[in-house]
Amino acid sequence: MHTLIVFASGQGSNARAIHEYFGRGQQARIGLIVCNRADAGVLTWAQHAEIPTWVVDRQTFMSEDFLRQLQTYQPSLIVLAGFLWKIPDALVAIFRNKIVNIHPALLPDFGGKGMYGAHVHRAVIEAGKKESGITIHYVDEVYDSGDIIMQARCPVHPDDDDLTLAGRIHGLEHFFFPRTLEYLLQTGFAASGQYTKASSV
Ligand code: GAR
Repeated sequence: MHTLIVFASGQGSNARAIHEYFGRGQQARIGLIVCNRADAGVLTWAQHAEIPTWVVDRQTFMSEDFLRQLQTYQPSLIVLAGFLWKIPDALVAIFRNKIVNIHPALLPDFGGKGMYGAHVHRAVIEAGKKESGITIHYVDEVYDSGDIIMQARCPVHPDDDDLTLAGRIHGLEHFFFPRTLEYLLQTGFAASGQYTKASSV
């Protein structure tokens, strides 16, 4: 049984999609949800789903004790599902090629510091893009720049606003994120640190 640690700071719809996808099977389970906001929706859901949670402040997040605690879970993957803080270099080094992020646009466009959630969708619409999508990628020391595992695309309609586009993007995320994690676990890429380059769907 693989253990996933999920970092999430928002509503947690992706955490929920992952949890529901793996269900009661023997393949993987979320062992811990790390969150940096005590009022985040993901915490309410996690308590209901009986998944352990840990609300961290900045000092804890940067501490060696935090790293040690994460290691005790022996996670196959650390999954960033709407987590907004930059991952400390020490954490990247310990879990290299085991930290996977989902970004709600087609990187390398519309990424970087401050580009999250509605900010991303507004920027895509303001740029007049006809297409957006999701990017699932490994996390390295630079925001949104790690190797891309997969991307999926969707149209941007002329009458879209950030909410309608977010809804379409969430649909892609909920389908592809759990399946991509499963792929990484099944192929052993998660363990070996190998990956498949940018297979687009
Ligand atoms: C997701 O759309 C995810 O791609 C985005 O936050 C949302 C979280 O939704 N992440 C980023 O913007 C990271 N830069 P959720 O809390 O409902 O899963």
